[in-house]
Amino acid sequence: MDQDSWTAVDRHFAGRLLSTDEAMDDVLAANLAAGLPAIDVSPLQGKFLHLIARAIGARRILEIGTLGGYSTIWLAKAVGEAGRVVSLEFQPRYAEVARSNLERAALDDRVEIRVGPALDLLPEIEEENIGPFDLVFIDADKANQDAYLIWALRLSRPGTLIIGDNVVRDGEILDAATKDPPVIGIRSFLDLLGTEPRLSATALQTVGAKGWDGFAMALVD
Ligand code: SAH
Ligand code: DHB
Ligand code: MG
Repeated sequence: MDQDSWTAVDRHFAGRLLSTDEAMDDVLAANLAAGLPAIDVSPLQGKFLHLIARAIGARRILEIGTLGGYSTIWLAKAVGEAGRVVSLEFQPRYAEVARSNLERAALDDRVEIRVGPALDLLPEIEEENIGPFDLVFIDADKANQDAYLIWALRLSRPGTLIIGDNVVRDGEILDAATKDPPVIGIRSFLDLLGTEPRLSATALQTVGAKGWDGFAMALVD
């Protein structure tokens, strides 16, 4: 099996399971037109996050890594009108694209995008007592994935769900001798997921339109 087959199966699933949603397609088109890297979650992955958020009744969600807000919008649609999503983005230009996408989707009133290095913003969020969050989606620079997990825990309560993207990276994470900071970050993130006593975690590999990758998920005890 190869990328073409994975993409074809994703298309098959999407054709049956995702309703035609021009507004969501417009977000991806706007992101491409603005020159953002096409590293948003796939539509099927976005709906997966959306369904998880709804299933746990999430009202407060923290996202680390906004890009153009595609995953943010899936999450924002899950929290309801009284819900809140806080999403952190390093690149001001990406954050602007995300804000305009959120306005067009009429979801800007329930989403706050904060701009800066997430490791500077997370202590502010703690000081402002915005948490605890019901769900944290970690999807920013992979070199800091482990540091983001520690912050996610600080901003959690028992029952918080933490999801981390890109835990496979085409299998690169198997390389224990790697000098690649993103791979080191993901490996350390996985080690922490397995050893932190407050977390029960698992990870699933995925193939699809986005290649070979995966999600890790942890429940805070
Ligand atoms: N969650 C998005 C994709 C995020 S891509 C979606 O699925 O639609 C990863 C994002 O993390 C990029 O936009 C990148 O600019 C951002 N990022 C990289 N380093 C960061 C940092 N130190 N702090 C916050 N965001 C960062
Ligand atoms: C990259 C980042 C992501 O969050 C992703 O889902 C895929 C790729 C990247 O930085 O290359
Ligand atoms: Mg990702």
